[in-house]
Amino acid sequence: MALPGCSRLRLRQSIFLYLFSITGLLTFACTLAIWYGVNSDRDYIHPLLTQLIPAGHCACQTSTTFQCSSCLTCSHQGLVQQVNPIPAWEFQAARDGKNEGLDRAQCRTAFPGLFEDVHRAATFWRTHGALAMEDLDEIPLRFGMARVFIHRGELYVLAARSKGEDHRRKIVAALSAIHRALVADPSRGLKRDIEFVFSVEDKVEDVTTSDQPIWALARTATEEAIWLMPDFGFWAWENVHNALGPYDQVVDHIKRTDIPWSEKKQQLVWRGKPSFAPKLRRALMEAARDQPWGDVKQVDWGQRTNIMRMEDHCQYKFIAHVEGRSYSASLKYRQACNSVIVAHKLQYIQHHHYLLVPDGPNQNYVEVERDFSDLSDKLEPLLANPSQAERIANNSVRTFRDRYLTKAAEACYWRMLFEGYGSVWNSSVPVWSERYQRERGIRYESFLLMDSRLMFEFDALRGGYR
Ligand SMILES: *[C@@H]1O[C@H](CO)[C@@H](O)[C@H](O)[C@H]1NC(C)=O
Ligand SMILES: *[C@@H]1O[C@H](CO)[C@@H](O)[C@H](O)[C@H]1NC(C)=O
Repeated sequence: MALPGCSRLRLRQSIFLYLFSITGLLTFACTLAIWYGVNSDRDYIHPLLTQLIPAGHCACQTSTTFQCSSCLTCSHQGLVQQVNPIPAWEFQAARDGKNEGLDRAQCRTAFPGLFEDVHRAATFWRTHGALAMEDLDEIPLRFGMARVFIHRGELYVLAARSKGEDHRRKIVAALSAIHRALVADPSRGLKRDIEFVFSVEDKVEDVTTSDQPIWALARTATEEAIWLMPDFGFWAWENVHNALGPYDQVVDHIKRTDIPWSEKKQQLVWRGKPSFAPKLRRALMEAARDQPWGDVKQVDWGQRTNIMRMEDHCQYKFIAHVEGRSYSASLKYRQACNSVIVAHKLQYIQHHHYLLVPDGPNQNYVEVERDFSDLSDKLEPLLANPSQAERIANNSVRTFRDRYLTKAAEACYWRMLFEGYGSVWNSSVPVWSERYQRERGIRYESFLLMDSRLMFEFDALRGGYR
């Protein structure tokens, strides 16, 4: 019997409604599952979920492979080929590592390959037109940024914006590092004046577009306009929740407590929050799960479980390094241990990354794929051959902790950055503003002594002080 037209319509309507609710429910469940996968800090979530997690912050699956002419490996070969054996000045870590005042020639001799990114950015801007005041005026100053200038070797703050105490401390630390590198240079008064904008945010895209000439802590390979600066942690890591102190002090502490290689655990250690970069970090957790060599655990700061002090990482022969939202500032702390760093192919570049060597006689870390699929293949031969692993750890210490991450290297880098940027800076840098009839900036020395609340929204021209 045929249904009357009207009830057939009602049936069709209810089928439609039924399908609609099912689809809605499924979408909701799916969204919920993905949200859970991305935000959970639990040790285990189903592999199906880890597959579903979008790459998110690390959306770009590519990584950076460095091809530099004066990188560590090449410069070593360069030294071997030298025919003229004049005994020249040589960098000695114990004597020179804490000397922020090496001269230009000493900097170049001591740290070949350290200034790659400065040369790169200078070349970029030379071919894209020089930099002038108008270029900086175009950059909106967002939270976590500061505009400063160096005039006759003195540092001035024009404007600084902080959303909170964390920003403020990072900005003060960056300014202090700049000031330290400046005052250690006896001829600073003769150097070119420059004005620039820097950001202490993790990523360039947090504050501006990738075509602006800002100074930042890390960049991706395509963010070519950016000038890399050393991170504020070299001055001191004084996060509101986590204070580590000046980097060189952390190193001294680790040197005192580090144990001999043979006594270290034959394991790969990692502690962290998976939700900072779920795709990457969960891939590591999965690859190390149930392996005898794996000691990879998620940290829960709320429950205070699995928290491990920095120096305790050094008790392991292998330390994993994973990027977070952006670069991870923890790499340099891990490199302070006499251990082998195991890192996935990195996407974010910091100023010293050019010195990372993934193979050959100067190998100073172990590089694995971004999904950690080759982790056990890379690790097992080293577990079977501890002296090969020890050689990599030795190279890491010699290259990073005792050379390129020293205060001496950091100060050299800053000064080379002033110089490189200065080479494409094509404006004068006045101290006096005709328009506002006042000084354009406040000296670093005065800024530092300002009431900290006044630093949050500081603008020297608009009368943010005095
Ligand atoms: C530098 O500035 C001057 C004056 O504004 C200009 O004529 C010159 O073309 C600029 N140089 C470069 C390389 O942009
Ligand atoms: C690593 O360095 C230590 C200390 O300098 C040294 O005793 C050891 O022989 C080195 N090991 C290798 C494999 O190069």
